[in-house]
Amino acid sequence: MRCIEEQGHIFEEWLTPEQITERVQAVADRINEDYKDKSPLFVVVLNGAFVFAADVIRRINRRCKVTFIRVKSYEGTTSTGNIKFIIPLQQNIEGRDVIVLEDIVDTGLTIHQLKDYLYEQGAASVKVAAMLCKPDKIQFPDAVPEYPAQCIKDEFVIGYGLDWEGFCRNLDAIFKLKE
Ligand code: IMP
Repeated sequence: MRCIEEQGHIFEEWLTPEQITERVQAVADRINEDYKDKSPLFVVVLNGAFVFAADVIRRINRRCKVTFIRVKSYEGTTSTGNIKFIIPLQQNIEGRDVIVLEDIVDTGLTIHQLKDYLYEQGAASVKVAAMLCKPDKIQFPDAVPEYPAQCIKDEFVIGYGLDWEGFCRNLDAIFKLKE
């Protein structure tokens, strides 16, 4: 098992690149089936979801569009309790079937607030695909992702787009904090 050190802490490999690929394919298969007669609009939540999004989107065989939004809720390893829209939606989403692509749903605050915002902007439907989901920590029922690639306990992870203070997004696997 691979281990890495980041800012004096040891992280061990938890999901290998092969395991990630399997789970991403399963998410894409479900979306392809559920959106057979629809043309979804993917809203990628930057920064963390860019790697997951690139992998999911290339497995979608429906006609679709992709747009980006940037929000921030974390400082270091803890949530601040409020999301900031750093890059707002650049696209008219009225009447669109939106699928949000997120790296990880932790307390669910980001998705909860984002879903409200997307419905306010006129989305016909909003569903969420997330690489990771922490079911024991989610505080908002509407934030439970319809398409979770993998569930995880209340642990801090990095890699595959997930960062620690901006670092480690480039790791090809998902690593878990060891302590
Ligand atoms: P939530 O709003 O509490 O659900 O937090 C969601 C956001 O927090 C994610 O999009 C990540 O950016 C960040 N986050 C939550 N848990 C982790 C983690 O274990 N590692 C890295 N980032 C995390």
